[in-house]
Amino acid sequence: MELTYKTYESADPIPYDLLLLADPSIEMVDDYFRRGHCVLAYCGDRLVGEFVLIPTRPATVEIVNIAVDEGVQGQGFGKRLVKQAIREAKRLGAKTIEIGTGNSSVMQLYLYQKCGFRIVGVDVDFFVRHYEEAIEENGIPCRDMIRLAMDIHHEQASH
Ligand code: COA
Repeated sequence: MELTYKTYESADPIPYDLLLLADPSIEMVDDYFRRGHCVLAYCGDRLVGEFVLIPTRPATVEIVNIAVDEGVQGQGFGKRLVKQAIREAKRLGAKTIEIGTGNSSVMQLYLYQKCGFRIVGVDVDFFVRHYEEAIEENGIPCRDMIRLAMDIHHEQASH
């Protein structure tokens, strides 16, 4: 199935259902959504995914949120969204793209490394410090943020 992409505009409804799938904190979501650049992914006229980029340091953008509708996960849309986020980051002039995910987010760590990201650090106790509720995934407490990055200066993102 083809995906079409549209940059979020203020007249569009904020895609909270998707945003909150990737991040349980509505305060955090509201904070970066206002500052970020959101791209919506449609399959026909159905909204199936989104990602949010924010510029962090010079020539660096971070994917701060990425999600695929639960009803259509596992069909390759997530991988396509990551690749689209890389293309979009390049278009915005970035030379490095970053992403962070929980130590317990096994599938996400797999997906991002498969798309070319490398682990560059660990923000120890990030989720303990920033989230009130304890998070657990795959039977693993989510405490630390695994930081990943990719040099996109020379990278040719494929479809
Ligand atoms: N178990 C194991 N592997 C799985 C899987 C599962 N349940 N679901 C997908 N995969 C594999 C796929 O086989 C694929 O690998 P491959 O390329 O080797 O075949 C890879 O993971 C990506 O799958 P894809 O179908 O592209 O992912 P998706 O459309 O399900 O989207 C997420 C991935 C993470 C975006 C999606 O699961 C999601 O929105 N999750 C909730 C929000 C979230 O966690 N966001 C990230 C926060 S850091």
